[in-house]
Amino acid sequence: MNVLVVGSGGREHALVWKISRSPKVDKIYCAPGNAGIAEIAECVNIQPGDIQKLADFAFANRIALTVVGPEIPLVEGIVDFFQSKGLKIFGPVQKAALLEASKVFSKEMMIKYNVPTAKAEIFTDNNAAKNFLRVTDPPLVIKADGLAAGKGVMVAATTKEAEKAIGIIMEEKQFGESGNRIIIEECLKGEEVSFIVFTDGENIVPMVTSQDHKRVYDGGKGSNTGGMGAYSPAPVINENLSGKIIDEIIRPIISGLAAEGIRYKGVLYAGLMITDQGPKVLEFNVRYGDPETQVIMPCLKEDLVDLMNDVIDNKLSPRQLSWEDRSCVCVTCASGGYPGKYEKGKLISGLEELRDLKDIMVFHAGTKKQEEKVVTNGGRVLGVTALGKDIAQAAKRVYQAVEKIDFEGMHYRKDIGLRAIEKSAIKK
Ligand code: AMP
Ligand code: GLY
Repeated sequence: MNVLVVGSGGREHALVWKISRSPKVDKIYCAPGNAGIAEIAECVNIQPGDIQKLADFAFANRIALTVVGPEIPLVEGIVDFFQSKGLKIFGPVQKAALLEASKVFSKEMMIKYNVPTAKAEIFTDNNAAKNFLRVTDPPLVIKADGLAAGKGVMVAATTKEAEKAIGIIMEEKQFGESGNRIIIEECLKGEEVSFIVFTDGENIVPMVTSQDHKRVYDGGKGSNTGGMGAYSPAPVINENLSGKIIDEIIRPIISGLAAEGIRYKGVLYAGLMITDQGPKVLEFNVRYGDPETQVIMPCLKEDLVDLMNDVIDNKLSPRQLSWEDRSCVCVTCASGGYPGKYEKGKLISGLEELRDLKDIMVFHAGTKKQEEKVVTNGGRVLGVTALGKDIAQAAKRVYQAVEKIDFEGMHYRKDIGLRAIEKSAIKK
């Protein structure tokens, strides 16, 4: 069969890599892809938002399965459109994608269906929001309702910072219409973890747990980014807690959506805070995580294509998936200046040395080919990934590999996985 993957980042490279290992797959296309993806798939110059063109391409190339990486096409209804044309596609329909597209909708659903989350108030008026600050103690978290490329959430330590955040979102409209409504919520304390599942709207099959590192600098300092690295599994979640998360969070939200007439199919990503009072939801995403996918796919021992087809066909069998009994760590090599301004087109060296090394995968995020050479083409450039018997070994391998890579201005975090390593050292 022919498969089309939509997107161009490290997540999509990891998906294409895993799909390419399925014996059922003849040819993989990726729209638009990147230089790394181009080594294992045919890249097609169609943007993820161009739904009509993607559907035309799927027809013309007898695509038997389309897999959507980023949220924007999902939120814009790519799944509904493909389904209406009889094309097979993996991901939630537009109404279900609201869980990520609107933080207000998501919060209202969580409240209605008793899913543990931070206490919150919703505002459509900036003055009302500011008045609320007078009667509520910081720290608080201010969130724009709509999509804001991961930038619409501000943790405010003081009332002044909270006021500033309201100004940025509601008055300056830095995120456009996404800031017409905001949520002000209590700041939760604890450890963050990503809990990601496959679901056909009825059955739920969890993936291994993972943890990403959103801040740009070591120790969780500096601005938020698209993700500076990840590791899996996350030791903060044991089997008991995993069961609790499914029973108290994942199942209620999926059956809540069903009660509203929305069948959720695809991957559901719960960003959680493990607090003293148990796991609470920070956000839902309606897609695979980035960079979590880069550490999850190398551990999955089953055929991803079968799993996704089972979801589409409503026959996902509830079970524990088969995973590598190993750990995985991914380190993002980023462009100088990222997450602020950065230059593109820098020559990347060292890729050849890492090619075909056992248990090392270099997932490309922002790269392109220029005159037979690979150059940088984005803020996050590469996700260097390694498997190991535990997080410590995987981290050691990954940093040895990262040292081989170089491009002008490259920076990366040196502490990916460190928290998990410290935790397991304490346990021993
Ligand atoms: P979100 O896009 O909602 O996941 O928010 C981005 C980041 O902001 C999260 O990964 C957390 O680090 C932080 N965050 C969001 N909501 C809260 C909260 N209620 N309490 C503490 N931190 C939060
Ligand atoms: N790793 C965060 C996300 O995928 O949104």
